[in-house]
Amino acid sequence: MTDATPPLASGPAAGRVLAELRRMQATDLPTHGGRTLAYVYDSGLADADALGREALAMFASSNGLDPTAFPSLQRMENDLVALAGALLDAPDGFVGAATSGGTESILLAVLAARRGAPHLTAPSMVLPASAHAAFLKAASYLGVRPVVVDVDPLTLRADPAAMAEAVDDSTVLVVASAPSYAHGVVDPVAEVAALAAARGIRCHVDACIGGWVLPHLDHLPPWTFSVEGVTSISVDLHKYAYTPKGVSLLLHRDADLRRGHLFASAAWPGYTMLNTTAQSTKSGGPLAAAWAVTRHIGTDGYARLARQARRATLELAAGVDAIDGLHVLVAPDSTLLALTTDDTCDVFTLADGMLARGWYTQPQMAFGAVPPTLHLTLSAATAPSVPDFLDALGVTTAAARAAGPVAVDPGLGALLVSLDPTALDDAAFTGLLAAAGLSGEGGAIELPDRMAPVNALLDACPPAAREALLLGVLDRLSRPTPRPSP
Ligand SMILES: Cc1ncc(COP(=O)(O)O)c(C=O)c1O
Repeated sequence: MTDATPPLASGPAAGRVLAELRRMQATDLPTHGGRTLAYVYDSGLADADALGREALAMFASSNGLDPTAFPSLQRMENDLVALAGALLDAPDGFVGAATSGGTESILLAVLAARRGAPHLTAPSMVLPASAHAAFLKAASYLGVRPVVVDVDPLTLRADPAAMAEAVDDSTVLVVASAPSYAHGVVDPVAEVAALAAARGIRCHVDACIGGWVLPHLDHLPPWTFSVEGVTSISVDLHKYAYTPKGVSLLLHRDADLRRGHLFASAAWPGYTMLNTTAQSTKSGGPLAAAWAVTRHIGTDGYARLARQARRATLELAAGVDAIDGLHVLVAPDSTLLALTTDDTCDVFTLADGMLARGWYTQPQMAFGAVPPTLHLTLSAATAPSVPDFLDALGVTTAAARAAGPVAVDPGLGALLVSLDPTALDDAAFTGLLAAAGLSGEGGAIELPDRMAPVNALLDACPPAAREALLLGVLDRLSRPTPRPSP
């Protein structure tokens, strides 16, 4: 008999658990290698990635809740805000905060604007229809009425004259994108900011996806803090700064503008809660990783990566225009493309075909007068693969043209258009999901290999019906894993 202490852990050994994680990860899209053209960003710099992962692990358990307990995290945050300020022409006196992502930065920009006008009982914000849906989320969370203004039908950029007309005494914020996610174009920021400044209203520039790229490209009119009237800018580090997920920055022209998203509470028996952002306990991992990666890549490195991604974007756009049946929706201002088809085929079939050939492209539904498109986010690491991508796209498009556009079952399409999915009971909803090709036995969500019929059907739905249907899908996907049977 030995009296050695038995190990405290009672589950499988670490190696086995890691193997389980790897098996699960194998079902995901690849994050590196340049073949996933949405959601992920790949610099192609293996040492920067390794550094980011090491810094992430080093600070994973550190807590940004209290800057006096973890001063290193406050220092890193201040360094990153200073770095972004230099890139975005921030004036003396600017301030910022590190958030968990673009959506949190936008939520806080809207919150600060709303709180900056406490006399208004029914505040609103004016935004172009191309603005990221995070603004609509902020509107819905924070009780700020969104006044959505059509973009110019040709350029797909914000229409400042129409936005000026939409501004009224309840407006607390005016929004511009640099660039828009869906179409990759930069709004006329100077005009939008001027119309806001003329009425003493804040103007937020959403540079979540472009803020680390556009400053290194020289073909654009000014859109940063160099434009008088721009009061805040959001820029995500976990996008084109190529840092691990979990960090965005929100910069304000001055400290007064930030006040509305600072929070303190001493009205409870614990520590006085003091936050600049929505999170309270906040892992130091993503921040440390962002600090390390940005420091390692450096300004010249980012300039090279931005030019590389931009060259790849232009090369890809030129190649697309040479493919029959396919064209680029609008000339790209940055490193994002939206492709569309003529009526010989459809983007949903293209997305399936490209995925079957190992390329992820993101279908976007029709919106107003804009047809369905295929969204591409190009990373620096996509550059070497552009010729292969274009070969695959050429073959996929030819096959899609031979097959013709995917047809929507007219009966089902008409049903969805007329239906109020929010009014369906669970059994009826289960039937609808099965009819839409989204569920299998017992009503569990099962996505088909070919998503084109489902996407074409969703595309035919009014947006509200699409939202309700997909929320139903999400609700059913987000359920506890069934216990294994004994
Ligand atoms: C322009 C723009 N704004 C905001 C966001 C939201 O960022 P996140 O997904 O990090 O919340 C995105 C994401 O792609 C974006 O492209």
